Amino acid sequence: MKDKAINSFSLKTRIEHNEKNQRIDINKWAFKLISKDIRPLNILELCCGTGRQSEYLINHYINSSIDLLDISQESLNHIKNSSYFQKSKISTFNIDMDEFFLNNKKKYDIIFVSYGLYYSKNIDEVLKKIKNSINQKGQFIVMGPHGNNNKEIFEIIESTGLKIDKKIKFTCTDFMYDKVINYLSREYYKTRIFKITNKIEWKNINNFISYWENSTFYDEYYKKELINRLKTFFKTNKFFINTKEVMLIIAEKN
Ligand SMILES: C[S@@+](CC[C@H](N)C(=O)[O-])C[C@H]1O[C@@H](n2cnc3c(N)ncnc32)[C@H](O)[C@@H]1O
Repeated sequence: MKDKAINSFSLKTRIEHNEKNQRIDINKWAFKLISKDIRPLNILELCCGTGRQSEYLINHYINSSIDLLDISQESLNHIKNSSYFQKSKISTFNIDMDEFFLNNKKKYDIIFVSYGLYYSKNIDEVLKKIKNSINQKGQFIVMGPHGNNNKEIFEIIESTGLKIDKKIKFTCTDFMYDKVINYLSREYYKTRIFKITNKIEWKNINNFISYWENSTFYDEYYKKELINRLKTFFKTNKFFINTKEVMLIIAEKN
């Protein structure tokens, strides 16, 4: 699981498959719900990956300093080579988020994370550290999967006999409720929760397999059997439609 979780090429491939075939642009949806701010704030983005949300953050908080953190140097390099990268306002940190918070003394006005918090090795501790690193009236903004996310993919993959790791399933179904909302609703002054259901439509077997091969739940042993099942599926269906359930949480401190 770990390799695919931090591999920059795998991440780019998964994003490409989702973004090309999705009905709703979830980043646009999220950043319509997040207020712009022209004050010079300190912002930290955790698990920024190849910068799909970093670009929005830069445009949303035009006078702010933004620290981008990811365990993958390759993904950070991708951001550094992007047209929106501005040396004057962006710093990058190539470090594991749990390690970062062991020594971090800096206070932020906003900490943002999309599809990454569940990679923490000690989420309860990291949530506490995040809260301590946010200034008064500051915000913690989290985006991630929940509920029936990936229901259709998981079902067809598991029909081959492959049992998807419970931990992986937890991160995209119950993690937001059990770990994040549970903590934020107790520890923050105000917690707003927004949800949207997206649908990803794959037109052929190659699209499906290429996404799967770059996911944390790929297992080559079951590939042949899955291709057989997809062949049968596409005989009577034009698209394979997968559900992505997305949650955005905006938590504010007193
Ligand atoms: C699913 S990607 C999300 C990327 C981006 N936020 C997005 O939504 O497109 C998860 C990112 O978390 C990073 N990551 C995984 N484990 C990490 C850790 N322990 N500390 C910091 N970053 C981590 C990976 O390298 C990857 O870039």
